[in-house]
Amino acid sequence: MPVKLLGLSGSPRKGATEHVVEEALKAAREAFPQIYTELMVLRGRKVAPCNGCGYCKKNKTRCCIQDDMQELFDRFVAADAFLVASPVYVMGPTPQLAAFFSRLRPVHHVFPEALRNKVGGAIAVGGTRNGGQEVAVNWIINYLLTRGLVVVGGEIGGYAGGKVWSQDRGAEGAGRDDIGMDTVKGLARKVAEVAVIMHEGRKALKGTP
Ligand SMILES: Cc1cc2nc3c(=O)[nH]c(=O)nc-3n(C[C@H](O)[C@H](O)[C@H](O)COP(=O)(O)O)c2cc1C
Repeated sequence: MPVKLLGLSGSPRKGATEHVVEEALKAAREAFPQIYTELMVLRGRKVAPCNGCGYCKKNKTRCCIQDDMQELFDRFVAADAFLVASPVYVMGPTPQLAAFFSRLRPVHHVFPEALRNKVGGAIAVGGTRNGGQEVAVNWIINYLLTRGLVVVGGEIGGYAGGKVWSQDRGAEGAGRDDIGMDTVKGLARKVAEVAVIMHEGRKALKGTP
């Protein structure tokens, strides 16, 4: 089974963030052709936030809210590595991404092995040059940590993750931010590299070839 790298766009529309994630996945594939990549978008999907009912924890089972998260949950946990991206909304990630991560609660209470030793990196796309990309990246890193993921940062210069300035001009604006896109591509290559190392390491631990 090839390593599967999933890029998640937390934007409610097809704009800058989705483009940035596509570019990130492309950079990862170019550096590591043996990996498989998948794009997941929250736009158009119905994902209610967790309401804290405790159903998953009490019954040791999946979430009882019947919406698109049932399918998204399975697709997400099937991946080995993650690039999680969000537009900056009021200096943080979108409420759509927050809802998504809140609904991963069964990972904590029911499926603790589902994301264990899997790796992830964070990307934020803001309309203003210094509009909160670093804050949003750190927020996403905390989301990843709450779900047991091993956080991977960018190469030197990229630090905490990918940070892009779209100038509120969608894909075209994001594409013009060469420095920001370099932080995204560097992060994507690093996440893919660590995922491949983890994959081989897991086999070594099990003693299989
Ligand atoms: C409700 C809302 C809040 C926003 N807040 C910020 C912000 O705090 N800082 C910032 O830089 N950009 C902010 N923006 C601009 C978006 O981050 C920016 O346009 C981004 O590129 C949108 O990504 P998308 O095209 O993938 O949706 C905000 C946009 C919206 C709709």
